[in-house]
Amino acid sequence: MATQRRQKHGNFTSNNTDLGRWCSFGTLMIALWASPVHSGDIIAGKQLYQTHCEGCHGTQGRPFMPNAPDFSRGEALMQSDTTLLASISAGKNAMPGFRGILKDDQIIDLVSYLRTLF
Ligand code: HEC
Repeated sequence: MATQRRQKHGNFTSNNTDLGRWCSFGTLMIALWASPVHSGDIIAGKQLYQTHCEGCHGTQGRPFMPNAPDFSRGEALMQSDTTLLASISAGKNAMPGFRGILKDDQIIDLVSYLRTLF
């Protein structure tokens, strides 16, 4: 009798946990899907920055190049991700464009990383 009760309880708990797991997974997916900006991956962005941008923009966003904005002071960062994506992909004056070199979502990763520098 006692065993039976424990078994029932056990089944109930395990079902409940499964359901809970699926619910939190669902909620997470909905949260990711519904977030207005699909924010980038900062770790990937940092690696891309070191490869493609650091030569001019410097470590921590303090530029080596005279005309480049200082990201550590938030320069050029008061723009939407979409605007920054467009500038990085098209290039601007002394800065080459990265269209064809980096995918849009890689540039979004970069933008997310740039925002951590300020
Ligand atoms: C050859 C040097 C060079 C490289 C490489 C470079 N930049 Fe730049 N970047 C500049 C210069 C110079 C400016 C300033 C352009 C201007 O406003 O005249 C600039 C401007 C910017 C701006 C501000 C654009 C705006 O709208 O004001 C962003 C954002 C930026 N760079 C991001 C990046 C990222 C991300 C990378 C790497 C994928 C990168 N840059 C690579 C030189 C470079």
